[in-house]
Amino acid sequence: MINGTFTPSADAGKLSTAPHLNNPSTPISVRFSNSTGLPNIPDNDPNADPRGMAIRFHLGPRRHTDVIGHSTPFFPVRTGAEFLAFFQAIASSPPGGPSPSPVEQFLGSHPSALAFVQAPKPAPSSYAREAYFGLNAFKLIDAHGNATTIRYRMVPGLGVESLDSEGLKEKNVDYLQKEIETRLQKGPVTFRLMAEIAEVGDITDDVTVHWPDTRSLMELGSVSLETIVKDQVKEQKYIIFDPIPRVEGVEPSDDPILEFRAAVYLISGRERRSAP
Ligand code: HEM
Repeated sequence: MINGTFTPSADAGKLSTAPHLNNPSTPISVRFSNSTGLPNIPDNDPNADPRGMAIRFHLGPRRHTDVIGHSTPFFPVRTGAEFLAFFQAIASSPPGGPSPSPVEQFLGSHPSALAFVQAPKPAPSSYAREAYFGLNAFKLIDAHGNATTIRYRMVPGLGVESLDSEGLKEKNVDYLQKEIETRLQKGPVTFRLMAEIAEVGDITDDVTVHWPDTRSLMELGSVSLETIVKDQVKEQKYIIFDPIPRVEGVEPSDDPILEFRAAVYLISGRERRSAP
C-alpha cells in the first residue's frame, strides 16, 4: 500500500459537495492488486490481469470514502447471482473434461462474460503505467441537490505501457511490487481521477454496458502517490475497501452489484483479518 495526496480540480466542487472534492487536499492510501483474489498470485502470472487500483480518501477520524477500479472497461456479469454462477461453472470445468464444459456453456449464453474473457488484458510494465476503470455508476450531488451520473477512471500521468506475453515471461514474480517501490524512491507518481459523464438515456445500473466513447471526461483531481506504507503486512491485512461511497455529495447508482459487492468485500476482509 502507498500513501499519497489527492488534490481536486477547480471544477470538481461544482459537481459535488463531497469533502475530498472541495478541500484543498486529502490524504489517501492506495492499494494496487492482481486479479483473481488469490493473495499470492505472482505478478507475472498470465491470469493476474486485470490489475486493480483502490483509493481510500481519509476524511477525518474513522471517516473515509473509496474509489475502486480495475484495468479493463469490461466486466463479465451484471449481478452477484450471475457472478456466482460464473465461478461455479469455472470450478466445475477442469482441463481435459467433456466439451462443451460448464464454463463454455456459460460463456455461450452470457455475451458480456465472453466479451470480458476475450478483451485483451495485457500486463502493464508498471502499476503506474496502467489505466483503471471504476465501472459502476455513481451520482455526484452538487450544493443545489442536482445529480451528475458518472463512472470513475484513473488515468496514469506517465501513460499506459503494456508488455507482450514474451515480455511478461522475462519478468519476476514480484516485478510490479518491486518496480513501484523503486519508482517511488525517485519521486511521486501521478494519476488523473476522471469522471466519464453520462448523458440522458445511458444505462447506469449495469456494469457490463459500455457508454459511447463520445461521453465527456472531466478531471476531478490529481492523485499523487508518494511513499510506501510502513508496516505493510499489517495494513494490507486490515484494510477493507468499500464499493459504496458513504459520504455526502456522492451517492451510489441503482446498480444491483454495488450492495452485493459491499457485503462480499466485508466478508472477505473479515476473513482476512481473522486469518492467522
Ligand atoms: C458481483 C460483483 C463483485 C464481486 C462478488 C467482487 C468480489 C470481490 C472481493 C471478495 C474482493 C476482495 C475484497 C477484500 O478482501 O477486501 C474484491 C476486490 C476487488 N474488486 Fe471486486 N467484486 C465484484 C465486482 C467488481 C467490479 C465491478 C470491479 C471493477 C472495478 C471490481 C474490482 C475489484 C478490485 C480492484 C478489488 C481489489 C480491491 C482491494 O485492493 O482491496 N470488483 N472483489
